[in-house]
Amino acid sequence: MENNIVWLNHKVTPEDRANIKNQKPCMLWLTGLSGSGKSTIANALESYLNQYGFHTVLLDGDNLRFGLNKDLGFSPEDRSENIRRIGEVGKLFVEAGVIVIASLISPFLKDRKMVRDLFSENEFIEVYISTPLGVCESRDPKGLYKKARIGEIPNFTGIGSPYEEPVNPEIKIDTNIYDVPSSIEMIVSELKAKAILPSKGK
Ligand code: ADX
Repeated sequence: MENNIVWLNHKVTPEDRANIKNQKPCMLWLTGLSGSGKSTIANALESYLNQYGFHTVLLDGDNLRFGLNKDLGFSPEDRSENIRRIGEVGKLFVEAGVIVIASLISPFLKDRKMVRDLFSENEFIEVYISTPLGVCESRDPKGLYKKARIGEIPNFTGIGSPYEEPVNPEIKIDTNIYDVPSSIEMIVSELKAKAILPSKGK
């Protein structure tokens, strides 16, 4: 091999790992503008799943930029790398049998497709938090839209940098219309339809 690396097959398979947890792992990918409600929904969803005994992990774009991705900024190249890393980390967790919730703007179609392609068809669930820009801007929880409008953040998503809407997301939620409990219900019913969560009981 050109770079002298060889893929090693492991004795314990992803299925073996998931089986002892009694759950079906998946990657739930929450994408949307800053202030759209991704983190709120991600948190509420994780609490719901945790309460019913599912093993989850939450990969949050902002938080991972304090560690794993602290060398990255907001150029298109750095955002791609941010998304690639979170996708790969998510894949490791899925292989460990865990239900992964990733929450990051991930504004570009090609980057989200790259992540989707890491997973099998039923494993990757794109959740588009479609709250309109005007609503996100009026919420402005971190005061960043205000800064972007006066030119202090030149490449802010939705203002100086584009957000490419998902074409066929598995789930679409406008948090200006749906409150948190109904949003969680929408996600949970999709997870049940995909047999990731049992349709009865939990
Ligand atoms: S992504 O585009 O690479 O997916 P990510 O979700 O990790 O972004 O980080 C977005 C967070 O970084 C926002 O919630 C906001 O707090 C902060 N941020 C700082 N600069 C920018 C910017 N130029 N565009 C968008 N978000 C920014």
